[in-house]
Amino acid sequence: MTINTHQHIIKTKYKTTAKFYDLLDWPWEFFVYRKLRPQILDGISGKVLEAGVGTGRNLVYYNRNVDLIGIDLSFEMLLRAKKRQKLARCNVNLIEADATNLSLFNSNYFDWVVSTFLCCVMPNNLQSIAINEFARVLKPGGKFKLVEIVYSNQPGLYRKQKLMSAYVEKVFGAKFDRNTLEVLSSNKDLTITSTKFIKDDTYLLIEGSKK
Ligand SMILES: C[S@@+](CC[C@H](N)C(=O)[O-])C[C@H]1O[C@@H](n2cnc3c(N)ncnc32)[C@H](O)[C@@H]1O
Repeated sequence: MTINTHQHIIKTKYKTTAKFYDLLDWPWEFFVYRKLRPQILDGISGKVLEAGVGTGRNLVYYNRNVDLIGIDLSFEMLLRAKKRQKLARCNVNLIEADATNLSLFNSNYFDWVVSTFLCCVMPNNLQSIAINEFARVLKPGGKFKLVEIVYSNQPGLYRKQKLMSAYVEKVFGAKFDRNTLEVLSSNKDLTITSTKFIKDDTYLLIEGSKK
Protein backbone atom coordinates (compact mmCIF):
# COMPACT_ATOMS: atom_id res chain seq x y z
CA MET A 1 0.00 0.00 0.00
CA THR A 2 1.25 3.52 -0.68
CA ILE A 3 1.66 6.11 2.07
CA ASN A 4 -1.00 8.32 0.46
CA THR A 5 -3.55 5.50 0.32
CA HIS A 6 -2.89 4.56 3.96
CA GLN A 7 -3.19 8.20 5.04
CA HIS A 8 -6.46 8.55 3.16
CA ILE A 9 -7.92 5.31 4.61
CA ILE A 10 -6.89 6.09 8.21
CA LYS A 11 -7.88 9.75 8.16
CA THR A 12 -11.29 8.91 6.65
CA LYS A 13 -11.91 5.95 8.93
CA TYR A 14 -10.89 7.72 12.13
CA LYS A 15 -12.96 10.81 11.30
CA THR A 16 -15.95 8.63 12.19
CA THR A 17 -14.27 6.17 14.56
CA ALA A 18 -12.92 9.01 16.74
CA LYS A 19 -16.47 9.96 17.71
CA PHE A 20 -17.10 6.51 19.19
CA TYR A 21 -13.55 5.28 19.85
CA ASP A 22 -13.55 5.54 23.63
CA LEU A 23 -17.04 4.06 23.84
CA LEU A 24 -16.27 1.16 21.48
CA ASP A 25 -12.97 0.50 23.19
CA TRP A 26 -14.37 0.86 26.72
CA PRO A 27 -14.70 -2.88 27.58
CA TRP A 28 -11.08 -3.52 26.54
CA GLU A 29 -9.87 -0.35 28.21
CA PHE A 30 -11.66 -1.18 31.47
CA PHE A 31 -10.91 -4.88 31.71
CA VAL A 32 -7.55 -5.12 29.97
CA TYR A 33 -5.69 -1.99 28.85
CA ARG A 34 -5.91 0.11 32.01
CA LYS A 35 -3.98 -2.61 33.84
CA LEU A 36 -1.45 -2.98 31.03
CA ARG A 37 -0.72 0.68 30.26
CA PRO A 38 1.07 1.54 33.58
CA GLN A 39 3.16 -1.60 33.14
CA ILE A 40 4.03 -0.66 29.54
CA LEU A 41 4.98 2.93 30.40
CA ASP A 42 6.93 2.08 33.53
CA GLY A 43 10.58 3.15 33.38
CA ILE A 44 10.16 5.57 30.49
CA SER A 45 11.79 8.98 30.89
CA GLY A 46 13.31 11.89 29.00
CA LYS A 47 12.34 12.95 25.49
CA VAL A 48 9.66 10.53 24.33
CA LEU A 49 7.85 10.14 21.02
CA GLU A 50 4.51 8.34 21.20
CA ALA A 51 3.44 7.41 17.68
CA GLY A 52 -0.28 6.87 17.06
CA VAL A 53 -1.23 8.51 20.36
CA GLY A 54 -4.94 8.14 19.52
CA THR A 55 -7.32 9.57 22.12
CA GLY A 56 -4.44 9.89 24.57
CA ARG A 57 -5.18 6.86 26.72
CA ASN A 58 -1.50 6.53 27.72
CA LEU A 59 -1.00 10.16 28.70
CA VAL A 60 -2.02 9.87 32.33
CA TYR A 61 0.46 7.04 32.96
CA TYR A 62 3.69 8.79 31.91
CA ASN A 63 6.11 9.73 34.68
CA ARG A 64 6.73 13.38 35.55
CA ASN A 65 10.23 13.26 34.10
CA VAL A 66 8.91 12.68 30.56
CA ASP A 67 8.85 15.34 27.88
CA LEU A 68 6.33 13.83 25.49
CA ILE A 69 5.54 14.43 21.84
CA GLY A 70 2.46 12.49 20.76
CA ILE A 71 1.71 12.23 17.06
CA ASP A 72 -1.28 10.87 15.20
CA LEU A 73 -2.53 10.93 11.62
CA SER A 74 -6.07 11.68 12.72
CA PHE A 75 -6.95 15.24 13.63
CA GLU A 76 -10.17 14.01 15.27
CA MET A 77 -8.34 11.49 17.50
CA LEU A 78 -5.90 14.23 18.53
CA LEU A 79 -8.80 16.51 19.53
CA ARG A 80 -9.81 13.85 22.03
CA ALA A 81 -6.23 13.36 23.19
CA LYS A 82 -6.04 17.12 23.84
CA LYS A 83 -8.84 16.75 26.40
CA ARG A 84 -6.73 14.16 28.26
CA GLN A 85 -3.57 16.26 28.05
CA LYS A 86 -4.43 18.12 31.27
CA LEU A 87 -4.55 14.82 33.18
CA ALA A 88 -0.92 14.07 32.34
CA ARG A 89 1.80 14.62 34.96
CA CYS A 90 4.38 15.36 32.28
CA ASN A 91 4.87 17.94 29.57
CA VAL A 92 2.85 16.92 26.47
CA ASN A 93 2.82 18.24 22.91
CA LEU A 94 0.35 16.73 20.45
CA ILE A 95 1.05 17.03 16.73
CA GLU A 96 -0.76 15.81 13.61
CA ALA A 97 1.90 13.79 11.81
CA ASP A 98 2.47 10.50 10.03
CA ALA A 99 4.74 7.91 11.65
CA THR A 100 6.14 7.13 8.20
CA ASN A 101 7.45 10.68 7.87
CA LEU A 102 9.01 12.15 10.99
CA SER A 103 10.86 14.91 9.13
CA LEU A 104 9.60 17.36 11.77
CA PHE A 105 12.11 15.80 14.14
CA ASN A 106 15.90 15.77 14.06
CA SER A 107 17.81 12.51 13.92
CA ASN A 108 19.14 11.15 17.26
CA TYR A 109 16.67 13.29 19.21
CA PHE A 110 14.45 11.01 21.35
CA ASP A 111 15.36 8.88 24.37
CA TRP A 112 12.33 6.69 23.80
CA VAL A 113 9.83 5.79 21.10
CA VAL A 114 6.57 4.24 22.29
CA SER A 115 3.54 2.97 20.42
CA THR A 116 0.55 0.94 21.52
CA PHE A 117 -1.62 -0.70 18.89
CA LEU A 118 -0.20 1.38 16.02
CA CYS A 119 1.62 -1.21 13.93
CA CYS A 120 -1.44 -3.50 13.78
CA VAL A 121 -3.08 -0.62 11.90
CA MET A 122 -0.24 -0.33 9.38
CA PRO A 123 0.51 -2.59 6.39
CA ASN A 124 3.90 -4.31 6.70
CA ASN A 125 5.58 -2.19 4.01
CA LEU A 126 4.58 1.02 5.80
CA GLN A 127 5.55 -0.38 9.19
CA SER A 128 9.09 -0.79 7.90
CA ILE A 129 9.15 2.86 6.77
CA ALA A 130 7.81 3.99 10.18
CA ILE A 131 10.29 1.77 12.02
CA ASN A 132 13.16 3.23 9.94
CA GLU A 133 11.95 6.63 11.05
CA PHE A 134 11.80 5.50 14.70
CA ALA A 135 15.39 4.31 14.37
CA ARG A 136 16.46 7.60 12.81
CA VAL A 137 14.91 9.85 15.49
CA LEU A 138 16.10 7.71 18.43
CA LYS A 139 19.41 8.65 20.03
CA PRO A 140 22.09 5.96 19.89
CA GLY A 141 21.25 3.80 22.93
CA GLY A 142 17.69 5.19 22.89
CA LYS A 143 14.98 2.66 23.58
CA PHE A 144 11.61 1.64 22.23
CA LYS A 145 8.54 -0.23 23.44
CA LEU A 146 5.85 -1.31 21.00
CA VAL A 147 2.70 -3.22 21.91
CA GLU A 148 0.74 -5.14 19.32
CA ILE A 149 -2.10 -7.63 19.25
CA VAL A 150 -1.40 -10.89 17.44
CA TYR A 151 -3.41 -14.03 16.81
CA SER A 152 -3.48 -16.48 19.71
CA ASN A 153 -2.39 -20.10 19.42
CA GLN A 154 -5.19 -21.09 21.79
CA PRO A 155 -8.03 -22.43 19.62
CA GLY A 156 -10.84 -20.77 21.65
CA LEU A 157 -9.22 -17.35 21.72
CA TYR A 158 -8.16 -17.62 18.07
CA ARG A 159 -11.77 -18.35 17.08
CA LYS A 160 -12.99 -15.27 18.99
CA GLN A 161 -10.31 -13.11 17.31
CA LYS A 162 -11.29 -14.49 13.90
CA LEU A 163 -14.93 -13.61 14.62
CA MET A 164 -13.92 -10.06 15.62
CA SER A 165 -11.45 -9.55 12.79
CA ALA A 166 -13.81 -8.05 10.18
CA TYR A 167 -15.20 -5.58 12.75
CA VAL A 168 -11.74 -4.64 14.02
CA GLU A 169 -10.48 -4.01 10.50
CA LYS A 170 -13.56 -2.04 9.44
CA VAL A 171 -13.70 0.20 12.53
CA PHE A 172 -10.04 0.52 13.57
CA GLY A 173 -8.14 -0.52 10.44
CA ALA A 174 -6.39 -3.08 12.64
CA LYS A 175 -5.36 -6.64 11.75
CA PHE A 176 -3.93 -9.33 14.01
CA ASP A 177 -1.65 -10.84 11.37
CA ARG A 178 0.82 -7.97 10.88
CA ASN A 179 4.51 -8.93 10.96
CA THR A 180 5.77 -6.25 13.34
CA LEU A 181 8.36 -8.47 15.01
CA GLU A 182 9.85 -9.52 11.66
CA VAL A 183 9.85 -5.92 10.43
CA LEU A 184 11.64 -4.76 13.59
CA SER A 185 14.12 -7.64 13.42
CA SER A 186 15.11 -6.70 9.90
CA ASN A 187 15.99 -3.11 10.87
CA LYS A 188 19.80 -2.90 10.98
CA ASP A 189 19.92 0.02 13.44
CA LEU A 190 17.69 -1.51 16.10
CA THR A 191 18.19 -4.39 18.49
CA ILE A 192 15.28 -6.24 20.05
CA THR A 193 16.11 -6.86 23.71
CA SER A 194 12.91 -8.52 24.85
CA THR A 195 9.59 -9.83 23.58
CA LYS A 196 6.92 -10.95 25.99
CA PHE A 197 3.22 -11.43 26.14
CA ILE A 198 1.66 -9.14 28.72
CA LYS A 199 -1.75 -10.81 28.45
CA ASP A 200 -2.59 -14.24 27.07
CA ASP A 201 -0.54 -15.00 23.98
CA THR A 202 -1.98 -12.04 22.10
CA TYR A 203 -0.74 -8.77 23.65
CA LEU A 204 2.88 -8.67 22.61
CA LEU A 205 5.29 -6.16 24.16
CA ILE A 206 8.43 -5.69 22.06
CA GLU A 207 11.31 -3.79 23.64
CA GLY A 208 14.61 -2.79 22.21
CA SER A 209 17.17 -0.11 21.59
CA LYS A 210 19.10 1.72 18.89
CA LYS A 211 22.64 0.48 18.34
C1 LIG B 1 -5.90 1.46 17.35
S1 LIG B 1 -5.55 3.15 17.58
C2 LIG B 1 -4.51 3.09 19.04
C3 LIG B 1 -4.54 4.40 19.81
C4 LIG B 1 -3.66 4.47 21.06
N1 LIG B 1 -2.27 4.23 20.77
C5 LIG B 1 -4.12 3.53 22.14
O1 LIG B 1 -3.30 2.79 22.69
O2 LIG B 1 -5.32 3.57 22.49
C6 LIG B 1 -4.38 3.46 16.27
C7 LIG B 1 -4.05 4.94 16.13
O3 LIG B 1 -2.96 5.03 15.20
C8 LIG B 1 -3.18 6.14 14.35
N2 LIG B 1 -2.39 5.93 13.13
C9 LIG B 1 -2.57 4.99 12.17
N3 LIG B 1 -1.62 5.09 11.23
C10 LIG B 1 -0.81 6.11 11.61
C11 LIG B 1 0.37 6.68 11.07
N4 LIG B 1 0.89 6.25 9.93
N5 LIG B 1 0.94 7.71 11.74
C12 LIG B 1 0.42 8.17 12.90
N6 LIG B 1 -0.69 7.67 13.47
C13 LIG B 1 -1.29 6.64 12.83
C14 LIG B 1 -4.70 6.15 14.16
O4 LIG B 1 -5.14 7.41 13.71
C15 LIG B 1 -5.17 5.80 15.57
O5 LIG B 1 -5.35 6.94 16.37
